[in-house]
Amino acid sequence: DVMGQLFGMQQNERQLADNFGIDRCLIVSGDSDQQQKVIEEFGNLLDEALHSCLPDGQNIIAIMGGTTIANAAKQLTNLKSTKRQNLFVPARGGIGETVNLQANSVSAEMAARSNGTYRTLFVPEQLSAVTYDSLLKEPAIVEVLNLINQANCVVHSIGRALHMAARRKMSEEDILMLKQKNAVAESFGYFFDEDGKVVYKIPRVGLQLKDVRNIPYIFAVAGGKSKAKAIQAYMKNAPQQTWLITDEAAANEILRGV
Ligand code: F6P
Repeated sequence: DVMGQLFGMQQNERQLADNFGIDRCLIVSGDSDQQQKVIEEFGNLLDEALHSCLPDGQNIIAIMGGTTIANAAKQLTNLKSTKRQNLFVPARGGIGETVNLQANSVSAEMAARSNGTYRTLFVPEQLSAVTYDSLLKEPAIVEVLNLINQANCVVHSIGRALHMAARRKMSEEDILMLKQKNAVAESFGYFFDEDGKVVYKIPRVGLQLKDVRNIPYIFAVAGGKSKAKAIQAYMKNAPQQTWLITDEAAANEILRGV
């Protein structure tokens, strides 16, 4: 197994991957809750993984935002060759983050670091249904949505449900609903309970969870003891081809309960 040799798979990485039923886990020592350096290391591993996995030709890489991916993005290195080009697009539009954490900004950063190109999806946060519908007919927006639908790679993180609801300034009513449904994890604008079942979805354009299943290269980057429950919940139903890049703090917490 070339990949196994390359990434020197450890026993706990195999155990975690088997437990989640996914292809691979990469575990960085430390706790990303406490140490910024751990997130840098996530970035290095993501960079290596993209280098070794992405095929020749035109790749379309869909990106989610958040602090983890925004910081990991800074570690990317040249991914372009005469045979391989990479286009970065935001995975979903306007799901509520401050500008530097938005998928648009992160895909621009990744493109700059890796010598790729990027496209921006301009979909504002607060829109009436009518405006939203007409916006979706705009050629510039349709074009980017079509690119997103052709993505062959996705990079995303996983967050804690209630933390993400608060960060996105969701209404008290919605937060109560999430509590009642026992939401513990969030990814792609979807909320999941402990069993990995979707309990709520923020209705936004772009990649939908069912589309993610058909994407050949999926990299989930999330760590920290505080995220252990969320990671475990999301991973219960994660597509098998997912590679999880995480840290010891999250991995040990999860494996302790297995
Ligand atoms: O809002 C985008 C997003 O990727 C969420 O899907 C995810 O829950 C969150 O960011 C992770 O953010 P952070 O890396 O800051 O924990």
